[in-house]
Amino acid sequence: MTTVAIIGGSGLTNLKNLKITRREVIRTIYGEPSAPMVYGQLSGREAVFLPRHGPGHTIPPHEVNYRANIWALKQTGITNVIAVNAVGGISPGFLEPGTVVIPNQIVDYTHGRAHTFFGSEHNKVTHVDFTDPYCEELRQILIEAASRAKLNAVGQGTYGATQGPRFESAAEIRRMERDGADIVGMTGMPEAGLARELGLCYASIAVVVNPAAGKTNGAISLKEIEKNLETGMAKVRSLLEQAIPLLVRA
Ligand code: HPA
Repeated sequence: MTTVAIIGGSGLTNLKNLKITRREVIRTIYGEPSAPMVYGQLSGREAVFLPRHGPGHTIPPHEVNYRANIWALKQTGITNVIAVNAVGGISPGFLEPGTVVIPNQIVDYTHGRAHTFFGSEHNKVTHVDFTDPYCEELRQILIEAASRAKLNAVGQGTYGATQGPRFESAAEIRRMERDGADIVGMTGMPEAGLARELGLCYASIAVVVNPAAGKTNGAISLKEIEKNLETGMAKVRSLLEQAIPLLVRA
């Protein structure tokens, strides 16, 4: 049975190194996920791929149906979820585009997103522990895989999740830095929280594609981001090739 899913973000709407075997359209009580599930072989093991922003990269971060995506993955019997997130770098050591980060903490600044499976329609008030928002076993596998892929990954960092789709102001980034955020992205939440609610083992590969607002002179360059996404996601593919065999025994 397939046990691992990869949720691709910006720059990773398809996994070139996935040998596709089939696609499956899944419907959930929360609506349709971003795309059909793509099943295939990666490094000789079965894996499922789901592009978070849709097959044509058309769904903006605040309109992703995170609940449908996570529910659908749970429905397919997946136990491990590797999320890929493009981010801006905030603190020293996280500013260089191309830096791969396996974050260990989250600060959530998003709002107005359907962020829980445990609303009032649920028959009982339910809380989940989120002290360590990412699955530590999976994080360690990603760190080991990064080292095998000879990537100089940063093994911890705090992900600040913003609402988007606009980038932040310089003052917002200064505030996030005071809050302890090392990197900033628009898709890390509510995804991680929903995965925890369903008991999935979830971790992220975050790739810095720009210094965050105010961290360089002038405006954030979309052209630079495009360029850095391409080289960054090549790193992610090689990391994933190393990670899947560590996760899925043949
Ligand atoms: N801010 C928010 N999300 C992002 C950024 C950023 O600077 N870069 C890539 N995703």
